[in-house]
Amino acid sequence: MDRRQMESAIAGVVRCLGASLKNRGLYPATHPLVRTPVEKCWLELAPFFADRSELALTVSDGTLVLEGVPIFQLTSSLELFMARLGAIGLPAVIFERGVSVEDIEMFVRFLHETKEQGLPIPEIKERLARWGITHIRVTATEDEEKDDFTLAREIYGNALNVVVKALKDVRNGKTPDGAESDRAVREMSGMVSRNRDAMLALTLIKNFDEYTYNHSVNVSVLSLAVAETLGLSETERIGVGVAGLLHDVGKTQLALDLIRKPGTLTVEEFEEIKKHPEEGFAILGKMTHIQDSTRSVVREHHMRFDRTGYPRPEPEYRMNPHSHVIAVADCYDALTTMRSYQKARTPQQALEIMRKLAGKSLDPDLVELLERSLGVYPVGTMVRLSTMEVGVVTGSPDGGKGEPKVAILFDRSGNPLAAPQGVDLKEADPSSGRPRRMILGTVNPLMHPPVSISGVLQTVTV
Ligand SMILES: [Fe+2]
Ligand SMILES: [Fe+2]
Repeated sequence: MDRRQMESAIAGVVRCLGASLKNRGLYPATHPLVRTPVEKCWLELAPFFADRSELALTVSDGTLVLEGVPIFQLTSSLELFMARLGAIGLPAVIFERGVSVEDIEMFVRFLHETKEQGLPIPEIKERLARWGITHIRVTATEDEEKDDFTLAREIYGNALNVVVKALKDVRNGKTPDGAESDRAVREMSGMVSRNRDAMLALTLIKNFDEYTYNHSVNVSVLSLAVAETLGLSETERIGVGVAGLLHDVGKTQLALDLIRKPGTLTVEEFEEIKKHPEEGFAILGKMTHIQDSTRSVVREHHMRFDRTGYPRPEPEYRMNPHSHVIAVADCYDALTTMRSYQKARTPQQALEIMRKLAGKSLDPDLVELLERSLGVYPVGTMVRLSTMEVGVVTGSPDGGKGEPKVAILFDRSGNPLAAPQGVDLKEADPSSGRPRRMILGTVNPLMHPPVSISGVLQTVTV
């Protein structure tokens, strides 16, 4: 088959799949308009298997791609087909040599009848197997499935790009695209629900030079975790997450050296800084896809719980309760970040300081809720074990109760291990029947040779 024949055959395959799926919604399963396209699809597929054993159909950046050939001319039935793949959470479908008409028929039925969104890949695999589909398989990517940490990192990186672009746009006098922020936050929100530890672990990546960008994404992730613990609706969670992502967007109007200035500011400089919530409010007002409450939250993120912050609210002004969520996340991320004028606090130290601010600048209920969202030992906390080994918390306990997941970094003499070693704190000592290792308490990471917590977390499966 030459390239042109192949492209037309490929178009034929997807057209038939799309047509069958569309007609499935209109006619009974046995109707010829459902059955015939499936048979045609099977016939179109057959020649491909003369010289290859499988054929990959993927959705990449919103484009349907079959064997590397993008299908640009989407008919309405193809759009439906792609939308179904996307909604279920299927980025790649692979047809194997030996695929039967029944396999294709059942697969179309699966796309038609599956109403859940964003199903995990193992669940999809199990369902396909249960439906007797043997020669169509699904994967998260074309080659290999991604673990949650890889996925979380991609999502985090994407959000970072969105912030960088948004701030650049503002600096160039353009209005940023609100749809991009909305999409990035939806992805992060999904990942926070799916694997909170993997997403929270990334907030520990502190890049000093890029402080504003990482800080924006971190505040969004932390706010999303709190919003989820609070039980907010999806729309509210997205609104809070977008506010987190864009809370300091108004700072782009300030001179860069003022933002980066170490130490105390002069009165005039502080007056300049104080303008950024109102600037942010104005910028968000010009953007699409921004909820009104998100705008208010950006304006109010420094007003403080006791209303002594800026812009100073009038006595009758009613603050949006979600503004306090951003304030708590903002404070936690700032405290755990090393700045030129401040050393980074451990999660424990940061929470201790925040407990003192509770009722003053911070909402006491939300400080408590943040602690609960992060767990007793937040991911990234360094701990000393009863064996005198030192490790780092890589995940919260399964089901939220019991011992967190820990990877050992230093042996009992303080020597670093060649590679972090994940240990199970439930593992019992055979002689006593008691746990072999218990957490004695937290350790100040500065007492140890510098450890890249994010590096460790990437080598240990969260
Ligand atoms: Fe701010
Ligand atoms: Fe901030």
